[in-house]
Amino acid sequence: MFHTALGDARSDIGHFLTDQMTELGTDPVAEAMRYATRGGKRLRGFLALEAAALFDVPRTQALYAAGAVECLHAYSLVHDDLPCMDDDDLRRGQPTVHIKWDEAIAVLVGDALQSFAFELLADPDTGAPDQRIELVASLAKASGAQGMVLGQAQDIAAETADQPLSLNAITELQGNKTGALITWPAEAGAILGRADPTPLRRYAQAIGLAFQIADDILDVEGDATKAGKRLQKDAQAGKATFVSLLGVGGAKSRASDLIADAEAALNPYGERAETLKALARYIIARDM
Ligand code: IPE
Ligand code: IPE
Ligand code: MG
Ligand code: MG
Ligand code: MG
Repeated sequence: MFHTALGDARSDIGHFLTDQMTELGTDPVAEAMRYATRGGKRLRGFLALEAAALFDVPRTQALYAAGAVECLHAYSLVHDDLPCMDDDDLRRGQPTVHIKWDEAIAVLVGDALQSFAFELLADPDTGAPDQRIELVASLAKASGAQGMVLGQAQDIAAETADQPLSLNAITELQGNKTGALITWPAEAGAILGRADPTPLRRYAQAIGLAFQIADDILDVEGDATKAGKRLQKDAQAGKATFVSLLGVGGAKSRASDLIADAEAALNPYGERAETLKALARYIIARDM
């Protein structure tokens, strides 16, 4: 049930992005944008679709929010992999954009994917004008200097900090770096459904943190072939992670507590939230 729903979301989001990107033509940046948005688990897009489905928002509409967050996320990965950031040559099992093309193209692809995400949200098919404005404003906030970009800067700064970060500092860093772009799609569902975002926000903040803990654990004990990216890089780079602070055991138990909290947050929605609860459990059980 959950895996079917996730598979359907992956295929729907893939087709949606292919369609939307048709008009971009075949210049190198456009081709590399398609390349960078292919594959991936689509967890953020799936979250947008499932959160919107709680309120019976038409899937055709929710796909714009799902496509937008996947483009924004893909941009963050293209830049994250650049030599000046994490310097990675493999992503989603394929050469990273700066390896396949070059660094200039990779910078521009990230820029263009970011613009494209907002173009999708501004499309009249996304929702009513007030909903589109709210989606644009909230994604801007989640991705910029108070959200993902801030978290990435904190992550890079921590590599050269004199002292290891405290648990609170790591929690804040991860909330920005990864949490903001996981919370956004859940809230987007509530915006499209004109519903109170509070339960979904609590759910998403918990799974966002658990998601990054799982990513940090995978970096230590994952299988690179399954993950489709280089592992064992965090310790090598001296990154501050939950694992570096709590150890693998401590990080796993923290992640399980967060998933229990995430599931509890969805109780107001009863049976309708079963898929979102299953998604929370998948987030810490995944091997990719
Ligand atoms: C990887 O995100 C980057 C982090 C925020 C840890 P995902 O693991 O969701 O990457 P894809 O989209 O499935 O490739
Ligand atoms: C990347 O985090 C987070 C963003 C791109 C915002 P990581 O650097 O831990 O992600 P991976 O491990 O390269 O996928
Ligand atoms: Mg990074
Ligand atoms: Mg990285
Ligand atoms: Mg990582």
